[in-house]
Amino acid sequence: MAKISIAKILGSDRDQDAALLPTPTTWTSRVTRLPRRTLYFLIAAVLLIQSLITYRLFFYEPPLTIAPPYNVAETVGLITKWYELLQDMKYLGPDEISYPPHDINITLAQHMSLNPLVIETMQQMPYINRNTEGGWMGERDILYRDSRFVDYRNKEDLYLSRDPLGHWIIYNAKYTNNTFEEAMLDFDELFPKSAIPISIVRGGMWGTGDAIVLDTATNRFHVISTQGDGNRDYFFQRYETRDETPREYKVKRGGWYGPGIQYARTIPDALEDFILKTSSLDEGFVPGGVYTEKTYTPELCPPRWEGWVRDLYQKSGWPSVEVMKDYLFPRNITTPSRPFDVFGSSNFLEEMNKLKHNISVRYMPDWYLPVPRVEEYIQRLENWYDLTPEQIEYARSDEEEVPVNLKGWAGNYYGTKHWEVYGRGDWR
Ligand SMILES: *[C@@H]1O[C@H](CO)[C@@H](O)[C@H](O)[C@H]1NC(C)=O
Ligand SMILES: *[C@@H]1O[C@H](CO)[C@@H](O)[C@H](O)[C@H]1NC(C)=O
Ligand SMILES: *[C@@H]1O[C@H](CO)[C@@H](O)[C@H](O)[C@H]1NC(C)=O
Ligand SMILES: *[C@@H]1O[C@H](CO)[C@@H](O)[C@H](O)[C@H]1NC(C)=O
Repeated sequence: MAKISIAKILGSDRDQDAALLPTPTTWTSRVTRLPRRTLYFLIAAVLLIQSLITYRLFFYEPPLTIAPPYNVAETVGLITKWYELLQDMKYLGPDEISYPPHDINITLAQHMSLNPLVIETMQQMPYINRNTEGGWMGERDILYRDSRFVDYRNKEDLYLSRDPLGHWIIYNAKYTNNTFEEAMLDFDELFPKSAIPISIVRGGMWGTGDAIVLDTATNRFHVISTQGDGNRDYFFQRYETRDETPREYKVKRGGWYGPGIQYARTIPDALEDFILKTSSLDEGFVPGGVYTEKTYTPELCPPRWEGWVRDLYQKSGWPSVEVMKDYLFPRNITTPSRPFDVFGSSNFLEEMNKLKHNISVRYMPDWYLPVPRVEEYIQRLENWYDLTPEQIEYARSDEEEVPVNLKGWAGNYYGTKHWEVYGRGDWR
């Protein structure tokens, strides 16, 4: 920290020692010799310089890195690639992707003052037809960590695009007479008009999950969570402390993604990475994955069933990481041939549907909480009709247990109630 000696400024160079260690007499005599106005001026100048130095040392930041501008075609191309990969993985059925042009209520989007780049992306991106069969996703409609595919052909999703974590319905609805539609036009915590979510957290009131939000103004990729502020993009976990995160990722603080210092990758970088992670079935990227948090429920992270699914893919001849990388992002202009001969002719889907049934017997409908194996808990759930006969049979069998810490969640297994929402309620 720079120190400025008032004595040094007021004094002269002639007598260094006296300036650094002024005796009371020299000090007084010098001060009295100066006109009062000059003295005030000098003190003000010293204070100003000192505060400038403090500012420079502690608060000044060089300008942030500006990402290349948002590109609708590139972004839509990558989202399409992701969906088509999920189709190749037979998570989505062969007719489940719907390509543009779409019937979107542009009047409403404009009434909501959405940024033109957001509207253009909504018009160009693919959507999922949820009423078709053929993939193993079925009714679970998860894109990433318990957030579902968006469908801006629906008015409700257009509105929810301003609040993809469902905060209004959870925290604010009870204090107002506004309708949901009114609230989505005028609510303090709404997302900026330049943001477009590509996934929305499922489950309303009790929903737990991460939504993916693209900001067209900055071309940055945010993973936002119901479980706290900040960017939950797994990529930043590698930097132990925020200070280690390279400056190129730093973005301006903003209310909607959290008050702290924030980091985000550019949209194409992050999407490409998420696509590759999905194709290699990495931890947290197995299709249909739920929200997990190592510190929250260590016994369940990652959920056992993700390993079962990954094993089945590999057993069925799903291509290696290298092959998938060359196929998805070829390094030259030659169009690579589809590497799915073995996988395509395997009976993966049949096996997967059996495995899916196995999972639904062993887990509550959220696929997050395992069916408990302790009689006290089994009885309570049985009395509430929360378990199917098959689940009850499994719960009392001597099959290998899926570990669950019933003392977790502050000892409140029932309090989490994830499964009630997914099992019974249908607020989306
Ligand atoms: C678009 O939304 C507005 C506002 O909800 C509604 O009044 C209008 O009828 C909708 N237009 C179409 C074509 O559905
Ligand atoms: C909602 O409406 C009721 C009845 O008109 C009124 O008493 C109440 O104050 C209103 N609440 C709010 C938050 O505006
Ligand atoms: C193009 O790349 C693929 C793999 O990415 C490779 O197999 C092929 O030989 C390359 N073709 C040319 C002409 O370089
Ligand atoms: C389903 O569970 C049973 C009993 O544990 C097991 O024998 C069977 O292999 C499982 N099937 C699949 C497809 O995982």
